[in-house]
Amino acid sequence: MRIAMIGAGYVGLVSGACFAEFGVDVTVMDVDPDKIAGLHAGRMPIYEPGLEKLVAENVRDGRLTFTTDLATAVKGADAVFLAVGTPTRRGDGHADLSYVYAAAEQVAKAAEGPLVIVTKSTVPVGTGREVQEIVRRVRPDAKISVASNPEFLREGSAIGDFMRPDRVVIGVDDDFALATLKRLYRPLYLIETPVLAVSIESAELIKYAANAFLAVKITFINEIANLCEKVGADVHDVARGMGLDGRIGRKFLHPGPGYGGSCFPKDTLALARTAQDAGSPVRLVETTIAVNDGRKAEMAERILAALGPDPKGKRVGVLGVTFKPETDDMRDAPSLVILPALVAAGVEVVAYDPQPAHARQALPAAIDFTGTALAAAEGADAVVVLTEWNEFRALSPDRLKAAMKGGIVLDLRNVWDPVAMRAAGITYSSIGRP
Ligand code: NAD
Ligand code: UDX
Repeated sequence: MRIAMIGAGYVGLVSGACFAEFGVDVTVMDVDPDKIAGLHAGRMPIYEPGLEKLVAENVRDGRLTFTTDLATAVKGADAVFLAVGTPTRRGDGHADLSYVYAAAEQVAKAAEGPLVIVTKSTVPVGTGREVQEIVRRVRPDAKISVASNPEFLREGSAIGDFMRPDRVVIGVDDDFALATLKRLYRPLYLIETPVLAVSIESAELIKYAANAFLAVKITFINEIANLCEKVGADVHDVARGMGLDGRIGRKFLHPGPGYGGSCFPKDTLALARTAQDAGSPVRLVETTIAVNDGRKAEMAERILAALGPDPKGKRVGVLGVTFKPETDDMRDAPSLVILPALVAAGVEVVAYDPQPAHARQALPAAIDFTGTALAAAEGADAVVVLTEWNEFRALSPDRLKAAMKGGIVLDLRNVWDPVAMRAAGITYSSIGRP
């Protein structure tokens, strides 16, 4: 089989490489010539564990190619996946579908034989129908089906998530599209992955409902963590005790500074707007958005309060600024709210992140970046953990304390053991733990 992937971002590049690994002939197309030139030279536009190797192997074996030319990508393809961005539209919080519609129109115009246009981007319910309209308008002559195949991978574990998903969701309304997608995902039948064939509308909504549910779950445990702090309970014990109930589940009950990333913030907002427009608001999601936004500001206040009555001129070492570990993605990272608030209060911020490629550009220029965690702690009045990169877990509390000027540590991801930190003379606080 042969497919084209439109968009060489976090989803397009990973999905394209993984489909190639399944034995499919894949061309990844992007309008960004620098991205494509880099990929031709073996340079990944993003940091994702295992991606460089997977791409190199599939390029070497001739199953994976890159182009900026849409016609080259679409030629001979059985399916063309749209994996372009759907960011928040300025002003109203809806998903901006201009990239999806532009790509759909270009693909339809370039189509030769029968093919399926598959929306892999996260798109609001109704988008698939609109894509069908576009296709009918520009190519009434062509046999082009439209399908929805939302992607559930997480950054940082994207390859494993794609290769061993909990489920594959296929939204279709014709047999040609269903058969094409089933053939593409055939390797997953061997590992008994559930494949749900549903309507296009249901597939589109499954993606938003799943993301929103996870965002609610995180926000719930964050509020329980606040309560734990007030009443002397340990949020990890509470989460474990809750999560062992199979109806609740243990995952996504880790408290932190508020969820971020390229999906949850924009997708919860887009779902809330879609639901409002449909006259059926999802108030739980609206509240989750407000609580999560507030939490990031509260974290900045918490850090400032720990610095004492006059934080001006104090030095804070920040460990981790990406929205989660094992990615270089800064989109909607909690650091984008927390660190500017510290800078605005006159705090001197020194940061370290193992993958800082996009961090400097995204954060205020006043923030200094160092090359190691200990260098960020050097001479600091306080150290703050914003992202739970594994290497932070291995830092010795004694060495951390020796590097610092003061002894305050705010661990907003609970990576360290409170007992060991206090034994090293550190004034340690974390989230939802006594
Ligand atoms: P991204 O911004 O990393 O990549 C999008 C790419 O599309 C860019 O490289 C851009 O140059 C390219 N592009 C835009 N218009 C184009 C066009 N007309 N033709 C060719 N290329 C074009 O975005 P992403 O993070 O990969 O997200 C893509 C979609 O997948 C979004 O809808 C997102 O919500 C969804 N999604 C993302 C994740 C994730 O973890 N990032 C997970 C699941 C779903
Ligand atoms: C998410 C969804 O998990 C994935 O299915 C979807 O395809 C894209 O959006 P991603 O944003 O890559 O994936 O990472 P995820 O691991 O879900 O984390 C999102 C945010 O929630 C991060 O800021 C993370 O720190 C936070 N989080 C996650 C918590 O605070 N606690 C948790 O228990 C889990």
